[in-house]
Amino acid sequence: MRVKHEAPIVITNKNVSNAMIHFNPTTQTFNLVLATSFYAFQVDAQGRLVHLGWGPRPAGAGDADLLSGQVSWERTDTTASFETQTQPDELLTFGDVTFHEVSLKVEFASLPIPLAPGEVAHLPIRDVRLRYTGHEIAMNGQPGLAPSHGLPTAVDSPRETLRVRLRDPVQPFAVTLCYRLTPEHDIIERWCELENEGGAPIRVELLNFAALHLPRGVTELTAVSGAWAREFTTQRERLRPGICLLEHRTLQTGHSNNPFFLLNRPGQAWEEGGIVYFGALAYSGAWRIAFEQLSTLDVRVHPGYSPFEFELMLGAGERHVTPAVVCGVSAEGWGGASRRLHAFTRERVLPRPAEMPRFRPVLYNSWEATWFDVNHAGQAELARRAAAIGVELFCVDDGWFGARRNDRTGLGDWTVSPDAFPDGLRPLADEVHRLGMQFGLWFEPEMINADSELYRQHPDWVLYFPGRPRCEARNQLVLDLGRPEVVAYLHAALDRLVSELGIDFIKWDMNRYASEPGSAAGKAIWRVHVAAVYDIMDRLRRAQPGLAIQSCSGGGGRIDLGILARADQVWVSDNTDAFERMRIQEGFSLAYPARAMEAWVTEAHNTLTDRHSRLNTRFDVAMRGALGIGSNLTQLDAAELAEYAAYIAFYKRIRPVVQEGALYRLERLEEFGASVIEYVARDGREAVYSVVVHEHRVGEFRPAPALRRLIVGGIYGVFDRSGVEIHRATGYELMTQGIPGDAAGGAGHSRTLYLEQV
Ligand code: DGJ
Repeated sequence: MRVKHEAPIVITNKNVSNAMIHFNPTTQTFNLVLATSFYAFQVDAQGRLVHLGWGPRPAGAGDADLLSGQVSWERTDTTASFETQTQPDELLTFGDVTFHEVSLKVEFASLPIPLAPGEVAHLPIRDVRLRYTGHEIAMNGQPGLAPSHGLPTAVDSPRETLRVRLRDPVQPFAVTLCYRLTPEHDIIERWCELENEGGAPIRVELLNFAALHLPRGVTELTAVSGAWAREFTTQRERLRPGICLLEHRTLQTGHSNNPFFLLNRPGQAWEEGGIVYFGALAYSGAWRIAFEQLSTLDVRVHPGYSPFEFELMLGAGERHVTPAVVCGVSAEGWGGASRRLHAFTRERVLPRPAEMPRFRPVLYNSWEATWFDVNHAGQAELARRAAAIGVELFCVDDGWFGARRNDRTGLGDWTVSPDAFPDGLRPLADEVHRLGMQFGLWFEPEMINADSELYRQHPDWVLYFPGRPRCEARNQLVLDLGRPEVVAYLHAALDRLVSELGIDFIKWDMNRYASEPGSAAGKAIWRVHVAAVYDIMDRLRRAQPGLAIQSCSGGGGRIDLGILARADQVWVSDNTDAFERMRIQEGFSLAYPARAMEAWVTEAHNTLTDRHSRLNTRFDVAMRGALGIGSNLTQLDAAELAEYAAYIAFYKRIRPVVQEGALYRLERLEEFGASVIEYVARDGREAVYSVVVHEHRVGEFRPAPALRRLIVGGIYGVFDRSGVEIHRATGYELMTQGIPGDAAGGAGHSRTLYLEQV
């Protein structure tokens, strides 16, 4: 029997074709059609939503080529004792499914219908079933924690969201599954909305943003792991049968894993070939992505909130909207998956207000130059030198406030230190502006030192459990953002300084994980903290549309598509050693775009790794993202400063292609010990080619890799950083033979070249 659905409400917009989302009322089949991929599901006879397929569209497929739903999932033998629950529901609920992984687990306090004679209630009822009741196509649907700053993104054309409404047949509980399409990048954002339609609270125990069903055998996982100063280490492994987890259980995204994945059939994808499924969470709190391989070899991905300490109480009439998982499929290998995520993030995620320069400015950051020893004279001298070499944004790091002379005191006291800046920071900010640069300032809003005025006044403002120690890490405690007065204090402190000093850029840091998570918000603190951080950032940006934010958490601890909707760039790692950095940046590039990747050139001797590296290597690595300088400019002589200036001038020439071009990883470190990457402008007329050799065995030669996506018949000049044309070739030659000259380059050889159609 077909379940009757509510008359579908279809909101149309005359500027946008509806052809991407098809619904066949006869077969009750949904087909979502994107540029090169498809996604399909169907309402079955019980009203369950059953997944039909997801993958690349066959070449030549036309408008009429849609799935009818006739071939559905293959049932296992229902007379067998085991493995009968493999139906691929679009959202898997504990009830229809009990012994495989589910997307949603809920407790109902009572039964709203009379018990049958002899039945016992068995409360709470932990069984939820969702049946189709209707759907609509909405324009510009928004997932949970979507930015509220109201700033535009690079592309703001309306997008269709398919909203499919499901309801429990017995309990007053509804779930809407949402699919927002960005067809040009083959991307679907998925999330769900929960609604308590009754009068009693409903406890949600586990909640994923969606369930992703992948074809059988898609079991090779590429993801990143790491730690402080070792972020984004690429990991490739075969999923074993059962469950494999990527997760982080803190108040930020975390260093040990990052919430994105690439999946393909083992041996059937490579950098530029093969079908690759990918996904990334738009969320900066405790998260989990579970990968499940069933005994049927089906693969499911379950992205969502970490269930480790999860609680969501839905009061009478309340709704909860989850953040989104951004997912897609590419038939162009890992590189194609990365490029889709990069383009999507650049065009649809990163804020791009008109008040901001088109490209991310060249930054100077004082941290590695002066550490906590900041004062007016020292910073002003650095600023003058920075301006002279072409820096566009000068950021004063930690140490400018309260009694902050080291990491044991002052955190939380957001007033300018009278010792370091007797006349306040305004004279420095004015000097930086007078020098033609933007002014940036470091904050760590969520933290507090026990030795601070704020803590002496409000010892209860931190996360703790009474009777238990308040464990410090880096001598600091975590503020309880579950208290509205704490959020109000932080917003007011930052807002005041932004307007008083004319701050153009906030470096928002967060230097520890949570320990005792006792909060006024109870267990909900994990979600509430993230929402509060987003809210403060969004309000600051709304008030000052030209304000930029850098997300940092002891390096790369808070990088994800949720934070990138309110941060312009991220600090990827505290490890600024060029060679280490190259490996970290390669892992970062699997999911995130160069435009958002802040990368500094620091001094020749790296104190973290004790390695010396040449200036060309340091620049060639840092110019792969949003260039920054972290060296102590007062220690450099005139010749060195002139070299810095020449590199910065060259970077400004290549910056449009680096920050907005498509990235090709022509040679990955793991293959030949060298990293060769190319950025290509959208029209193919310009490109940037960057080679850095890390390991080189004498007698081994490295063939020049072929370039990609140039204009076949175009003639290109290849220029070095002095603007000298060192090579001229057609697009055809470059895309078949590459650029000669790096074959015997030993460890430490590196160069960045600019290609332009002549
Ligand atoms: C950690 C950051 O990653 C560094 O860049 C620096 O800002 C320090 N915190 C300051 O305490």
